[in-house]
Amino acid sequence: MPASPSAAPDPSRDVATPQPPGTDARVTVARLLAQARAQGLDRLDATLLLGHVLGVGRAWLLAHDDAPVETSAAGRFAGACAQRQAGVPLAYLVGEREFHGLSLRLTPDVLVPRPDTETLVDWAIEWLQGPLAALPHPAVADLGTGSGAIALAVARACPRARISAVDCSAAALAVARANGERLGIDVQWLQGDWFAPLAGRRFDLVLSNPPYIDADDPHLAALHAEPRLALTPGPDGLAALRQLAHAAPAHLGPGGVLMLEHGHGQGPAVRALLARAGLEVLGTRRDLAGHERCTAGRLRGPTRDAGGPLAYPDGTVNHAMGEE
Ligand SMILES: C[S@@+](CC[C@H](N)C(=O)[O-])C[C@H]1O[C@@H](n2cnc3c(N)ncnc32)[C@H](O)[C@@H]1O
Repeated sequence: MPASPSAAPDPSRDVATPQPPGTDARVTVARLLAQARAQGLDRLDATLLLGHVLGVGRAWLLAHDDAPVETSAAGRFAGACAQRQAGVPLAYLVGEREFHGLSLRLTPDVLVPRPDTETLVDWAIEWLQGPLAALPHPAVADLGTGSGAIALAVARACPRARISAVDCSAAALAVARANGERLGIDVQWLQGDWFAPLAGRRFDLVLSNPPYIDADDPHLAALHAEPRLALTPGPDGLAALRQLAHAAPAHLGPGGVLMLEHGHGQGPAVRALLARAGLEVLGTRRDLAGHERCTAGRLRGPTRDAGGPLAYPDGTVNHAMGEE
């Protein structure tokens, strides 16, 4: 902590005034930030890390750059800077990240949600507010939910949707569930392998940002702090995308849509996977950098309307589509 916010520099204070216990007059906010910069840390990262260690905001730091910092806090800041320089994401060190306007708590058990994934969320919300607007409670699944980023962002934007979110990692699911509880957003959290916990259920919209980096991709090394399970499905980067495309038709309702995030070079392959699964390819959306990032496919036939069936000719009953 800073000596205390009330220990902010007092212009009337005599230079000979004793420092608060545990502080060294030479260790100030400005000095710690300058040291971090000199060691090569990004200015914003250094400011956010020091603010996190001291429990104060950036505005306080800017206004109190000559405030003394307790020796123990300076030590914790140095440790956090070293981790950041070793490639640990800032989001793990400060314990949170903003995604689609939501503040999500994160641990190293979950992938740090990327801005690219907001492309998928935006498309899903457009679909819910467009073609699915007539459904009082569209059924949505988020497969490989991690921190719950996609499920929570879609649920917040579209509270009438009934959302089920799946992850095979119990630790990830605990993070997602805690985020949902803290934000007061209702999502059904289920542990298991992709569609397995959703056996016998069909959805109007299935969303997924699965692991899609080849295990031998050299870029993976820079992501060493994030769970490998979240990043790569193994030697074939398309493995999880292929599994999802193959299984989706059995879990889509009439006109139901599968939307997949994928690597920027995987657009043609994912369109082919969706077509091979018998889905009508709706197209591919690009991320903010202009790379192909999300591809969607739709089960052929009319989109379910508000009075549409909950049961299917093969006897499947859609428990998720719980229209009142
Ligand atoms: C790329 S991360 C996406 C996390 C989050 N949806 C996001 O966009 O930030 C992929 C997630 O899929 C999960 N996952 C990997 N294999 C899985 C499987 N076979 N079944 C269910 N989830 C799986 C991982 O645990 C991880 O949380």
